[in-house]
Amino acid sequence: MDLFEYQGRDLFERHGLPVLGGGVAETPQEARAIAERLGGRVVVKAQVKVGGRGKAGGVKLAADADEAEARATDILGMDIKDHTVHKVMLAETADIKEEYYFSYLLDRANRTFLCIASVAGGMEIETVAEEDPERVAKIAIDANKGVDEVTAREIVTAAKFPADVADQIVDIAVKLWQAFVAEDATLVEVNPLAKVGDGRVLLLDAKITLDENAGFRHPDHEALVDQSAVDPLEQAAKAKNLNYVKLDGEVGIIGNGAGLVMSTLDVVAYAGEGHGGVKPANFLDIGGGASAQVMANGLEIVLGDPAVKSVFVNVFGGITACDEVANGIIQALALLGERGEAVTKPLVVRLDGNNAEAGRAILDAANNPLVQRVDTMDGAAERAAELAAAGK
Ligand SMILES: Nc1ncnc2c1ncn2[C@@H]1O[C@H](COP(=O)(O)OP(=O)(O)O)[C@@H](O)[C@H]1O
Ligand SMILES: [Mg+2]
Repeated sequence: MDLFEYQGRDLFERHGLPVLGGGVAETPQEARAIAERLGGRVVVKAQVKVGGRGKAGGVKLAADADEAEARATDILGMDIKDHTVHKVMLAETADIKEEYYFSYLLDRANRTFLCIASVAGGMEIETVAEEDPERVAKIAIDANKGVDEVTAREIVTAAKFPADVADQIVDIAVKLWQAFVAEDATLVEVNPLAKVGDGRVLLLDAKITLDENAGFRHPDHEALVDQSAVDPLEQAAKAKNLNYVKLDGEVGIIGNGAGLVMSTLDVVAYAGEGHGGVKPANFLDIGGGASAQVMANGLEIVLGDPAVKSVFVNVFGGITACDEVANGIIQALALLGERGEAVTKPLVVRLDGNNAEAGRAILDAANNPLVQRVDTMDGAAERAAELAAAGK
């Protein structure tokens, strides 16, 4: 989960990192009130989860509360890289002398954590890395050791931070690492980390990604979710404890096991190329024990997506045998009928693995006109794509 800058600022503050006073507003009037509280002179910053807001005109100085209200009026509703601005952050202004870059991130490719630091902050770090690679220090962080004062000094040396800010940056590096670990983040990026007129070093921007897999350790992270951006189907699926991800195609996918579902997405996308480019509409893994109830819940979510024109149910029987799954599908269709959500879209079912023959016989005996049995994965994908194309 990516955070808005104002949420990142608050998080930094909670972990004792030096930030400037700030607040978030959804209306120009709220912006004025916050500016007054902060002493009048503020920066007004668009809150969108993309970088480069400054360049796009989403960061503006205001000399007093009147101007803050006017700048908030300009920025609210702005479009920045296809993100509409619904909130602005107001922050005290800094008299910036130097802008640095500092981040910690999970470096998946190298199976480690990484610190990236540079004295050339402010601009995009990718550009600096390309044009001036020796000005960007990359230091692998040992997850077991973390960042103590010694490691922090190594970072400061490697990135060639000026001597007058070295101690402050050591302190920030240690605290920022502690925040990174305590919050289960996969990215904390500060650009700019700025030296200001009175010599202090402050975190003036915050880009944070939290690891949702660790959400169970952080009940407080739930409140950071941007409800306006949550897909209603994904929300409904979450409430039913289903592993569902909405995609933008037409073939609904239900499978058991994440690996099988992933490869189902591939074969359907491939088959879809021969049928006017239809694509998978979702990822849905109903897991090992696919009871009728779970199957009904899954079908309800997938069929609740108006873009879905056909559904491919791909099951490899293991612990749950195919005959149970077949019964589950038939019962699920009946259940949905009773709930007043009668299925009207074609279902292509492929059953393989444990008790496949018995499962197939159950489907045949049920003789539901909407259910088509295809016994190979490629064949079933082909049929589902064809039906989706016909239903468009
Ligand atoms: N509180 C502040 N006071 C003064 N200038 C600021 C302040 N916050 C940001 N800036 C300036 O605006 C630039 C862009 O802001 P930033 O928060 O980094 O947004 P983005 O990275 O999306 O462009 C910064 O590099 C800095 O020069
Ligand atoms: Mg920035």
